Amino acid sequence: KTIEDLGDVAGRRVLVRSDLNVPIEGDKIGDDGRIRASLPTLVKLAKAGAKVIVTAHLGRPKGKPNPEFTLAPVAKRLGELLAPEGITVHFATDVTGDSAQEAVQELDEGEVLLLENVRYDPREESKDEAERGALADELAGLADVFVSDGFGVVHRKQASVYDVARKLPHAAGGLVLAEVEVLKKLTEDPARPYVVVLGGAKVSDKLAVIDNLIAKADKLLIGGGMVFTFLKAQGHEVGKSLLEEDQVEAVKGYLATAKDKGVEIVLPTDIVVAPEFKADAPATVVAADAIPADQLGLDIGPDSGQAFAAEIAGAKTVFWNGPMGVFEMEAFAGGTKAVAQALTEVDGLSVVGGGDSAAAVRQLGFADDQFGHISTGGGASLEYLEGKELPGLAVLEED
Ligand code: 3PG
Repeated sequence: KTIEDLGDVAGRRVLVRSDLNVPIEGDKIGDDGRIRASLPTLVKLAKAGAKVIVTAHLGRPKGKPNPEFTLAPVAKRLGELLAPEGITVHFATDVTGDSAQEAVQELDEGEVLLLENVRYDPREESKDEAERGALADELAGLADVFVSDGFGVVHRKQASVYDVARKLPHAAGGLVLAEVEVLKKLTEDPARPYVVVLGGAKVSDKLAVIDNLIAKADKLLIGGGMVFTFLKAQGHEVGKSLLEEDQVEAVKGYLATAKDKGVEIVLPTDIVVAPEFKADAPATVVAADAIPADQLGLDIGPDSGQAFAAEIAGAKTVFWNGPMGVFEMEAFAGGTKAVAQALTEVDGLSVVGGGDSAAAVRQLGFADDQFGHISTGGGASLEYLEGKELPGLAVLEED
């Protein structure tokens, strides 16, 4: 169901789950791509005269209020972005408590209210359905209808994503619909060759998805932190690099499966190393099978960047998730830059998935419209591609 299926929303309280999980340092927002991506749905509802109540999370505060994870800076940014539309943004300092209830009562038609970080409430992420249901009841009590627009969280079975949809008439927002439309193209008969590029630091998360993607893609290019676990699995030493010792056996399995299935796993042949994780540490390039014991790998090397770019250039469909190195530091940004550049030149569909990769391409000076699609979902887009059922999408199919 779409927002249109909810009928006239004028004067009604519409609860929207957005994904506003953006990088913040102090009170400074880094890449605000997810906030911007959430705007069209909020504007549409506000302009239609709805009282728009937004629930969202920031980071992982583990069920406790913690000023480090407040959404206050996000409310401020949202206010700045919606001001040109003439839309006022309010902020409630709790999730469903007095502040939220009073703010909802005072909310005018065409205004937006952002509730404080929903993960301050331990019931949000509880494994116990009754606990989540109790929070969902409180959230539902604030509104008349629910719009699910936080694509980045639809893989989470959480109160504000999943359970609340069962308590109110609900619809998918425009962002969720747009994301699904693009990702569907990748899963249903993608134009081949289909190349998947994986990197990033959330190593164990990604290792699990590789198993599933082996069956779907023609080639997997691996960079970022997880590469060292692959190199170790091939019998190489990785010095002080990031390594998940307990995943080495699993990676050996993936390599063997890929070989059986005729899927090529392409690993870097050279690595940029440094003695420490520091922007000004002296960087050198070494062969991937000769990382010195006192160094750690912080990027794929220039030869690998070129080789990856050539693989991407030959593809008709490319999905990329995760930076190739520590792109925030100039000395270790080359691999990510090479991959991003290659994606902009793809003659076919190129999709950038994940908060980190999206932030990387923007920080490196690329524009969003140079890519086929920049997904707001990291884990969510990967799980979609794996063919897993995403609870936050499945629940929207229910009556
Ligand atoms: C993300 O950053 O991928 C989403 O906002 C979900 O966050 P989570 O991984 O903490 O659930």
